Amino acid sequence: MGCSTILVFLTLLSFASAHRKLLLFLLDGFRFDYIDDAELESLPGFRDIIGMGVKVDYMTPDFPSLSYPNYYTLMTGRHCEVHQMIGNYMWDPKTNVSFDIGVNKESLLPLWWNGSEPLWVTMTKEKKNVFMYYWPGCEVEILGVRPSYCREYFSVPTDQNFADAISDALEALRNGSAEMAAVYYERIDVEGHHYGPWSEQRKSALKELDKAMSNMITQIKNKGLQHDVNVLLFSDHGMTDISWTDKVIELKNYINMSDTIQMKDRGPVVSLWPVPEKHTEIYQKLKAVEHMNVYNIQDIPERFFYKKGKFVSPLTLVAEEGWFIVEVRAGTSCPSGRTAQGRGRPGRTAGMATTTS
Ligand SMILES: *[C@@H]1O[C@H](CO)[C@@H](O)[C@H](O)[C@H]1NC(C)=O
Ligand SMILES: *[C@@H]1O[C@H](CO)[C@@H](O)[C@H](O)[C@H]1NC(C)=O
Ligand SMILES: *[C@@H]1O[C@H](CO)[C@@H](O)[C@H](O)[C@H]1NC(C)=O
Ligand SMILES: *[C@@H]1O[C@H](CO)[C@@H](O)[C@H](O)[C@H]1NC(C)=O
Ligand SMILES: [Zn+2]
Repeated sequence: MGCSTILVFLTLLSFASAHRKLLLFLLDGFRFDYIDDAELESLPGFRDIIGMGVKVDYMTPDFPSLSYPNYYTLMTGRHCEVHQMIGNYMWDPKTNVSFDIGVNKESLLPLWWNGSEPLWVTMTKEKKNVFMYYWPGCEVEILGVRPSYCREYFSVPTDQNFADAISDALEALRNGSAEMAAVYYERIDVEGHHYGPWSEQRKSALKELDKAMSNMITQIKNKGLQHDVNVLLFSDHGMTDISWTDKVIELKNYINMSDTIQMKDRGPVVSLWPVPEKHTEIYQKLKAVEHMNVYNIQDIPERFFYKKGKFVSPLTLVAEEGWFIVEVRAGTSCPSGRTAQGRGRPGRTAGMATTTS
């Protein structure tokens, strides 16, 4: 799994240099092959980073291969059924509160976050200062703890915001106010979702990110931090092409939505709460739908490390790679682009680390 790959990394680096500070990057939706050998030829920043450190071929995301579950898997070292962040959209029937991706008040309730302890909380508890930039959840008090500094996420931080965050993070590491700094970057994911993983828009965002990496290396050298800082970059999930014209599963064609209490998310994985008396009927109807699996909680495969999560819905729908599940295909509010996080190979993500010396 991706999380164990990352843990190996951290261990290797800390053996090599026990007292280095850490600069961490979460590059959202950065598919592993965006930096394969051919692509790297036109990415001098990433080439330099890899030349000074190591790059994994790919990481396998945790299930589901979506943002929040994997942000938290990477930062807690636990699977979703343990850390409880099981989706970008969640619902707690007990309290009738929802977690919805993006900027949303109910999503900041500790309820969603305190299933496991993320790295920044562990470090803060050890009296090590952590500075975080746009990192989803850094504003949340988790297990009673907040990081030393949180520049709150908004939709969508610009390349200039990102560049400023890197400068600020490096200065905080240099002047001793932080021992770890963590920076979140979203634009690769946004362009990938909108225009597709191999679109010019996604490639152009990567070019800008590459420049930011070159600038970061220059700043590390100018500040004399080459031997004081480790840099670790990872991604949460990959991305695959979808076809909005012919690979969409519309649930309203198979079930009466009035027989459900709640539906969360659309796309490759959907959570469904049927009216209890209708559970069996809904399950049977959905079982007949092609290009999709429907699971009762107890039948969710063990290898997903998902089913014991306390927010897991009575029914979980999982599309075949490339397929997209919706309630109804809404005329103009379709995703204009063609992509969703995939499972399997295209879902693989990138990870790399360097000591920048
Ligand atoms: C649950 O919350 C939703 C949205 O806030 C609201 O529309 C609904 O009436 C609530 N249901 C119950 C049973 O309180
Ligand atoms: C986590 O948050 C929930 C809801 O606020 C609370 O009930 C629970 O006690 C918290 N758990 C811990 C360990 O703080
Ligand atoms: C160190 O740098 C950070 C980030 O620029 C800044 O917020 C902080 O005030 C600085 N601390 C000192 C003691 O200069
Ligand atoms: C869906 O269920 C509702 C409530 O039970 C019912 O009124 C409606 O006629 C049903 N729709 C269809 C198309 O069967
Ligand atoms: Zn993501």
